[in-house]
Amino acid sequence: MRGKLVVGNWKMNGGLAANAALLSELAAGWKPSPGRAIAVCVPYPYLAQVAAVLAGSPIAWGAQDVSEHASGAYTGEVSAGMLAEFGCRHAIVGHSERRQHYGDTDAIVAAKVVAALAAGLTPIACVGETLAERDAGVTMSVVLRQLDAILAAVGANAAKLVVAYEPVWAIGTGRTASPEEAQAVHAALRARLAKNGAAEVALLYGGSVKADNAKSLFAMADIDGGLIGGASLKAAEFLAIARS
Ligand code: PGA
Repeated sequence: MRGKLVVGNWKMNGGLAANAALLSELAAGWKPSPGRAIAVCVPYPYLAQVAAVLAGSPIAWGAQDVSEHASGAYTGEVSAGMLAEFGCRHAIVGHSERRQHYGDTDAIVAAKVVAALAAGLTPIACVGETLAERDAGVTMSVVLRQLDAILAAVGANAAKLVVAYEPVWAIGTGRTASPEEAQAVHAALRARLAKNGAAEVALLYGGSVKADNAKSLFAMADIDGGLIGGASLKAAEFLAIARS
């Protein structure tokens, strides 16, 4: 469903004491309003802590990945069913760091999205081009190929997705796509989603979003919010982004 959504991606950061401080600041500082939501996606071991601290709060929470398999001999993996049983609502899928370092291909990402949906989770499916792809002028074909792999796999369930456009060259680099550059990609993604009956999917932008650039990005017609890495680790900064 389209609405404003800001999701924190903690990546492999945190600790019990630091998380407790961050979460209590978020819970105290977030005043929900209609059509606006925030969520944090945390490392697996912290899901229990997040579930406990955020119980009864309007802040949603989720994982940063999910296995494409339901169960079995997959040492180290965590299934969507396990996450759902735990009360988890979201799972980031296909983040560029998974694609780059852990071999998540378009096909694996699509299978993970299907697994997440089957367990009732909302997958936050990530697409984005590398700097080399951007320089080669193939941004649109790359992100649409990544999205098409997911759409082909989910069929009639496309409207249940959240999609995040994260240009790889903008992640953790301090370089953001300009609002116009991001909007152009979002418009193409939106058109493709619309063709699949999913025009109302929330489309997030990610890559060096900070409090001082969030407003201009989120003002664009097809940008419904953000997937926030580094800036999600500071409560005041994350809340300022969420209020943008
Ligand atoms: P960043 O990361 O905000 O630190 O650039 C975004 C992401 O990887 O989701």
